[in-house]
Amino acid sequence: MARNKFPVHTTLSSDAVKILERYEKELGAKNLVLEKALMSLDSSKFKSKIDTKNIDKAIKRVNTGVVGLDDMLEGGIPEGFTVVVTGPPGTGKTTLCMQFLMEGIKNDEKCLFFSFEERIQQLIQHFMRFGWDIGKHIDDGYLEVFGMSMLSFEEIGEIIESYKPRRVVFDSLNMFTDPAEFRKSLEWRTLHKMLKSKNITSFFVTEKEFGIETKSYDTYDFLGDGIIFLDKMQANEVDANLTPVMAVQKMRATRVDTSPQPFRFTDKGISKYRTVNLTASKLQERMNMRQNSSSNEPGY
Ligand SMILES: Nc1ncnc2c1ncn2[C@@H]1O[C@H](COP(=O)(O)OP(=O)(O)OP(=O)(O)O)[C@@H](O)[C@H]1O
Ligand SMILES: [Mg+2]
Repeated sequence: MARNKFPVHTTLSSDAVKILERYEKELGAKNLVLEKALMSLDSSKFKSKIDTKNIDKAIKRVNTGVVGLDDMLEGGIPEGFTVVVTGPPGTGKTTLCMQFLMEGIKNDEKCLFFSFEERIQQLIQHFMRFGWDIGKHIDDGYLEVFGMSMLSFEEIGEIIESYKPRRVVFDSLNMFTDPAEFRKSLEWRTLHKMLKSKNITSFFVTEKEFGIETKSYDTYDFLGDGIIFLDKMQANEVDANLTPVMAVQKMRATRVDTSPQPFRFTDKGISKYRTVNLTASKLQERMNMRQNSSSNEPGY
């Protein structure tokens, strides 16, 4: 019998032994090269041990703070997710991100906001309009805002390490090198790994040169566990006013409806104001119809 003819491979797993036995039987001799290859594949140092018994089945979700958005996400964003907040210029990306931090602060979570393009004074003035007292939260130790940040990724990592935030925003990634280079960079991978290991929920702003209806993606879209796309759409052909819309284009571990939903800026931030179960083009069609009809249907 083959088993008696060749040595017992005690360092290999039973699956690996089966493979080795089969080949040794066919070759009629012990195969050292194959054995070595199987041993290295089998080595536990290449495996990350997963304790399947203790994996928490219920995904903990964090509220976004945006009225209506959590409902589009089965209650919120899975804790520890990296979310790309994207869209063309002036569509509310920075506002949504700060609102997400304000929600964290309400729950006594420490938050960090890294802005690479705006001065802190400008950000504070912008957010005061929504009643968010950034200065107070900073004084209370729940928020740090880095305006016009020139920090390196290493320094950002050190700040996260010492501040211990639960939520972090980066606004925006387009300040860095070419997206493909950025994605591959050791700096990004190190930071991403750190955020994941600490289970920090983070929002990364990226900029789009195209609107929501364009079926196109950029490299940044592949970085995250989720994508929230903000845009503005023309309500009808004659009226040049644009309606802000948000769409959850992707959220891992979550059932999402990807259709764009209208939202508005209020004195407390942004909020979705009605669910429409339509695609972007249908939404526009519907808006056009409403504009031209005299029906009493309530507005969006
Ligand atoms: N109260 C408001 N009502 C309507 N629109 C508002 C209000 N406050 C701000 N906005 C609009 O929000 C936009 C700016 O929001 P925000 O800075 O969050 O957008 P952004 O997508 O981050 O922009 P950018 O691409 O310049 O970084 C502007 O276009 C502004 O007109
Ligand atoms: Mg912005």
